[in-house]
Amino acid sequence: MSFPITRHRRLRGSAGIRGMVRETVLNVLDFIQPIFVTYGTGVKNEISSMPGVYHFSLDTLKAEVDEIASLGIPAVLLFGIPETKDAVGSSGFAEDGIVQEATRLIKKWYPDLLVVADTCLCEFTDHGHCGMVHTHTLDGVVHGDVINDASLELLTRTAVSQARAGADIIAPSNMMDGFVQAIRAGLDANGFEQVPIMSYSVKYASAFYGPFREAADSAPQFGNRKTYQMDPANLREAIREADSDVLEGADMLMVKPALAYLDVIRTIRDQFDLPLVAYNVSGEYSMVKAAAQQGWIDEQAVVLEMLTGMKRAGADVIITYFAKDAAGWLRG
Ligand code: PBG
Repeated sequence: MSFPITRHRRLRGSAGIRGMVRETVLNVLDFIQPIFVTYGTGVKNEISSMPGVYHFSLDTLKAEVDEIASLGIPAVLLFGIPETKDAVGSSGFAEDGIVQEATRLIKKWYPDLLVVADTCLCEFTDHGHCGMVHTHTLDGVVHGDVINDASLELLTRTAVSQARAGADIIAPSNMMDGFVQAIRAGLDANGFEQVPIMSYSVKYASAFYGPFREAADSAPQFGNRKTYQMDPANLREAIREADSDVLEGADMLMVKPALAYLDVIRTIRDQFDLPLVAYNVSGEYSMVKAAAQQGWIDEQAVVLEMLTGMKRAGADVIITYFAKDAAGWLRG
């Protein structure tokens, strides 16, 4: 490269030429907007740690879904806050569970809007773990572990009930071993062989989920999730996790969180051919919101830069609480 024959600035001289050579372009078709649904009537409660994100009861949900659909966002990701919780998370797979009811309504209002169902137990179990637990109490302190294989049965029931309610995509986030295979078999046995699995393949035990656990009332009541979610320090393990999910029949892979894991997104993109989803999680959302509320950053510019970074790193699809905002900004 010999200066001045090579002048990189030639391709930056105008908005027109910058647009022409731009390598990564955000598209509203890549966004998934999460929604939190809850019981009760007339509920539209802002989640205190996630400004601009709400709990909706079934009767207030329509306006939110109208807005999402009108922005051209193709998909929503449903999380449910049930009225009752128990040891096995039975409100997660109840026929009239909150996610199942919301799914039926959304599909009735907007048959073409994709409903992605998060398949996990932590919102529905009284202990807040993503599977079934065995516990004992010693000196007043509860100890326990999540039982892998027994949990698969419950997760499969949850996935099947979500598909039965009309969910278009099953997105299991529980990080049990063998969950893709178990859920695939359950879906197929019940006539849902056409329903894809978007696997949370590479999900780290991350502090960035803090605001979500307030939003979903899903914080573990003892211990933490480190025996099933991944150690943030590991990259080779991400390849092993993704590899298992591919072998078990996943249709899409996911990396979660996104911002501190862009190298993981790139690595999975390079090693696997399945569509790749990045989850821009609650803590990533709340940090930006907080700084923007202080006037410390330009929210729109920062959000679009972050989402572009995820896509540049290799994500095809982005789950983000900013989906509505970003869709509006992209529309200009
Ligand atoms: C359920 C689940 C979690 C998230 C998505 N699905 C929480 C967790 O694993 O504790 C986090 C989403 C976010 O932080 O935005 N297991």
